[in-house]
Amino acid sequence: MKKDYEKQIRELCGKMTLEEKVGQLQQCGPSLVGAFEVSFEELLDMMFDGRISKEEFEKLMGTAEQDFHEEDLRAGKVGSYNGIGDAATINRLQKIAVEETRLGIPLLFGYDVIHGFRTVTPIPLAESCAWDQELWERTARVAAEEATAAGVHMTFAPMVDVAKDARWGRISEGAGEDVLLNSAYGVAKVKGFQGEDLAKENSMAACVKHLAAYGAAEAGRDYNRVDLSMQRLWEEYLPPYKACIDAGARAVMPAFNDINGVPCSVNAWLLRDILRRKWGFDGLVVSDSNAIAECVCHGIAEDKKDAARQAILAGIEMDMSSNSYTAHLRELIERGEVAESVLDEAVADVLRIKYELGLFEHPYQTNETREQNTMLKLEYRAVALEAAEKSIVLLKNEDRVLPLKPGTKLGIFGTLAADRGQMTGAWAIGARPEDCISIVDALEANNVHYQYSADGTDLSKIASMSDVLIAAIGETKEESGEAASRADITLKPKDMELVRALCATGKPVVAVLFNGRPLAIPELDQTVPAIVEAWHPGLYAGSAIMHVLYGITNPSGKLTTTFPASAGQCPMYYAHTNTGRPGGKSKFTSKYLDAPVEPLYPFGYGLSYTTYAYENLALEKDEDGLWVRVQVRNTGKRAGEEIVQCYVQMPCAKRVRPVRELKAFTKTALEPGETKQAELKIAYDSLGYYDWEMNWIPYEGNLKVFVGGNVRDTISAEVILGSMSSEMCE
Ligand code: BGC
Repeated sequence: MKKDYEKQIRELCGKMTLEEKVGQLQQCGPSLVGAFEVSFEELLDMMFDGRISKEEFEKLMGTAEQDFHEEDLRAGKVGSYNGIGDAATINRLQKIAVEETRLGIPLLFGYDVIHGFRTVTPIPLAESCAWDQELWERTARVAAEEATAAGVHMTFAPMVDVAKDARWGRISEGAGEDVLLNSAYGVAKVKGFQGEDLAKENSMAACVKHLAAYGAAEAGRDYNRVDLSMQRLWEEYLPPYKACIDAGARAVMPAFNDINGVPCSVNAWLLRDILRRKWGFDGLVVSDSNAIAECVCHGIAEDKKDAARQAILAGIEMDMSSNSYTAHLRELIERGEVAESVLDEAVADVLRIKYELGLFEHPYQTNETREQNTMLKLEYRAVALEAAEKSIVLLKNEDRVLPLKPGTKLGIFGTLAADRGQMTGAWAIGARPEDCISIVDALEANNVHYQYSADGTDLSKIASMSDVLIAAIGETKEESGEAASRADITLKPKDMELVRALCATGKPVVAVLFNGRPLAIPELDQTVPAIVEAWHPGLYAGSAIMHVLYGITNPSGKLTTTFPASAGQCPMYYAHTNTGRPGGKSKFTSKYLDAPVEPLYPFGYGLSYTTYAYENLALEKDEDGLWVRVQVRNTGKRAGEEIVQCYVQMPCAKRVRPVRELKAFTKTALEPGETKQAELKIAYDSLGYYDWEMNWIPYEGNLKVFVGGNVRDTISAEVILGSMSSEMCE
């Protein structure tokens, strides 16, 4: 049960000076160039305009002392830090806050723990392909155990930005293109991070991000504008944030982008009307990095002071790194441009989360011994391996090239097969390359007969001595994530050259893909008999891939993001509407002249070493929802786990509806020949939509229900919902 700290908060707030109050809203990161005469920005400029070389810049950075702004801290001008991830530094700074500031208010330490702290698990996009809430929660728990042992109190996660455009680099940080999956993923993460009780030393607050619709950036270019109908915003983008808040997430980070012309950082409609009033959120709102100041560049604030004014009035409480509040809030209040009560509300929310985290009672939540003893525990590593195995998606397996027979001699090619540091993918700040297992490491440790060439030298010799060739290709970790959008998401020319050369040897070729987004790989799909989508799998990359290649693990992952047939098809996603002229063979239909209508691999798709059949789909209405029952049979020779997916279509509604919408899913384990009934429930509440006037209305009429192992290959049935009969549509 949530404790009430309101009395303490009021009393403490009453003792604070204006400056101390503003200080609580200040979140700063350690600056790397504190020891220099020039600011970091100027140093960057100096490098860009050639006054210093890149090497000189890097040397300066490498030798620079970190500046933790301790003088400001002592003066009560810092409430929180971002980006410090070790117990010694955290306790040292906490001691200054507690013992040397006038009121002794403890600091809040935030950190981007996105997919593991030291035990790095697969990137979120990969992990979402497991369609497994219980696993998502467990990996979040592991992350929380390690991060809190290092002193972290709050993670800037989960990111639940629905992302339909593969070009957007940050598609790697979320659960893909579907609204239901992002909601389920986010809820599991919040539970895992926060645990049962936030005050426990191994719980950390979840800061859900980025409110809202950051994933809808136009053309997939990072930070770009978002222009959405209200209906799409509410139906397709907002539900995951709301689900996380309902699950108890204690913090929210607004997005960099604008929505329909108003940047989220100064968007009072979003942060006050929706988040606070409609959703009842009573936690902390932290800006994105430098986002308040950037409102000047957006063209909505005159200067940083105006940005600070708009942001605090809109509801941003903590300023991450832009120093807008420390520079201007006091003056704004003294001049009456911002009421002190607005500041007090923000301060109260900062203090509340500190109380809830138990920081007033136990400001030092960890120590170096706990930190050392917690990292990389055996049981955490087992979870990382399991998550990596369940994230892998088998995209193609012709002629049963896979699984490899024991004793198969392998020729391994590509730098990514041996590059440990690349295995973690984007946003793995605490990762250490030496903790990671590459494909080559895994083969070596298991005495597999293999030969390796990073760039294809010795190709012919290696090929002649191998039974199967493996091409490890795709993206480096720098090629997805923040500020890593790509206009052309095809494979690099050198990767395809390698693949062609391998195929020319006549030996079977298996492509293992490392990437943080769907890639456009039509040529690869036509060239090689087998493709294993490994994503960036984390610490146990090599072991998980080896297990899948040899069939020690039967792959079960399914895509949570559509793979386009060409880069120009983007954005390509399954839940599109039909149009009046659905793409087809005839000319005057919705399609490109130079690209197929269909994607390369549909949403929900993924192969296994066994096969499944779906039979006897039955629908039954009860009071609050629709039961969907279906028999799933393992028709192959191996045990496996199938992700059963249920979609609906509302063929005739008051606003056009998507051709498919995922409404439920479950995972079922089946022995060879075994049949099980999968049972799914769709609440009537979820079978509605917004009408033209933005009223949520229940769907009435004929509902089509589709069940299967991906969005394309399904069986279907129909049911009539509500009072309206299907004839009324005709
Ligand atoms: C990102 C956030 C992240 C923050 C703090 C920003 O650039 O957009 O997602 O949490 O940095 O590191």
